[in-house]
Amino acid sequence: MITFDHVTKRYPDGTVAVDELSLEVPTGGITVFVGPSGCGKTTSLRMINRMIDATEGRILLDGVDVKTIDPPKLRRGIGYVIQQAGLFPHRKIIDNVATVPYLLGWDKRKARERALELLERVGLDLKLGDRYPFQLSGGQQQRVGVARALAADPPVLLMDEPFSAVDPIVRASLQEELLRLQAELNKTIVFVTHDIDEAIKLGDRVAVFRVGGHLAQLADPSTLLAQPADDFVREFLGRDRGIRRLSFVSDEGLRLRTDLVVPVSADVSSVRDTAEGWLVVVDENNRPLGWVAVKDLPESGTPADVRLAPYGTFVRGRDSLRGALDAALLSPSGNAIAVNGEGQVEGVATREALDEALGKVAGGVGA
Ligand SMILES: Nc1ncnc2c1ncn2[C@@H]1O[C@H](COP(=O)(O)OP(=O)(O)O)[C@@H](O)[C@H]1O
Ligand SMILES: [Mg+2]
Repeated sequence: MITFDHVTKRYPDGTVAVDELSLEVPTGGITVFVGPSGCGKTTSLRMINRMIDATEGRILLDGVDVKTIDPPKLRRGIGYVIQQAGLFPHRKIIDNVATVPYLLGWDKRKARERALELLERVGLDLKLGDRYPFQLSGGQQQRVGVARALAADPPVLLMDEPFSAVDPIVRASLQEELLRLQAELNKTIVFVTHDIDEAIKLGDRVAVFRVGGHLAQLADPSTLLAQPADDFVREFLGRDRGIRRLSFVSDEGLRLRTDLVVPVSADVSSVRDTAEGWLVVVDENNRPLGWVAVKDLPESGTPADVRLAPYGTFVRGRDSLRGALDAALLSPSGNAIAVNGEGQVEGVATREALDEALGKVAGGVGA
């Protein structure tokens, strides 16, 4: 655990970057520091590994004041990843990753083996090991940065806007990769970003900072979206907070109807008089083929020759209410198709069922 105990940082020019910050970063989770530019996130992060020393207060690493630990020794247990990856331009990728093992005096072969293992871990082709940083894309360089930070297997990882300089698609895949890695490694991660979406996606806990290093709120993402502490946090979360919040609501309470599902080989006369506007047509393996408007069904025969409308699905029990809502928005019927992990149809969530489930979300989604 990392503990900030009334930590203040005053720069020589008098700027108070962080003012009496107290918070705890639990072991084995991702804690995100998020807030607008200049609010003291980087300063707070760098006080942990003593690249910056606090003016007042204490930072404890598992109960030990970091000021009592020799900085090189302290940093051996703390990986550090920054925005431009910070790779050594004249060193091959493999040697960049092995930097800390070399410093620790590992033998060269063992250090390189470790480096290759890490390249693989972060999803890079081992061939890249022999290249130089400039020969890699921005996203690949960031992965190398993460691999390097993990090289000596430090229990703590500090990440300062590591994905902010890459394009949104690469950023999303780096975020996924980090979550996948973290599920295996369980590091204690402090992740700094100015991007609230990134914070909500990655954080087990999110600390929202306001200028002056003041902690506006510390909460898990779901609580943050549901109960912003004040107007500053509410503003910072943005207008679509209500919708994003649904990502954290399970689809369990959603009622499904099975009577709106019709096999492609079924005789339509059995379903023609259903009062509902739309039916989902499924193949012989119970996988969805599309929606059919009841009024477009033939008088008799099967729905096989009818033009089907596109559809959206969500995985029952795995996707959130947001997933169900997205699926509904992709279907002209306004209904969402619930499938199991194999993609087989479990039933239909109608608009009424979605309304009902949304109504049960405490406080409503617009709150
Ligand atoms: N070396 C420095 N000297 C003086 N002021 C600084 C220094 N570094 C940062 N600051 C100021 O401290 C405040 C917090 O900066 P920083 O921690 O970098 O914020 P963030 O990472 O949230 O953008 C800002 O007002 C910034 O200008
Ligand atoms: Mg910063």
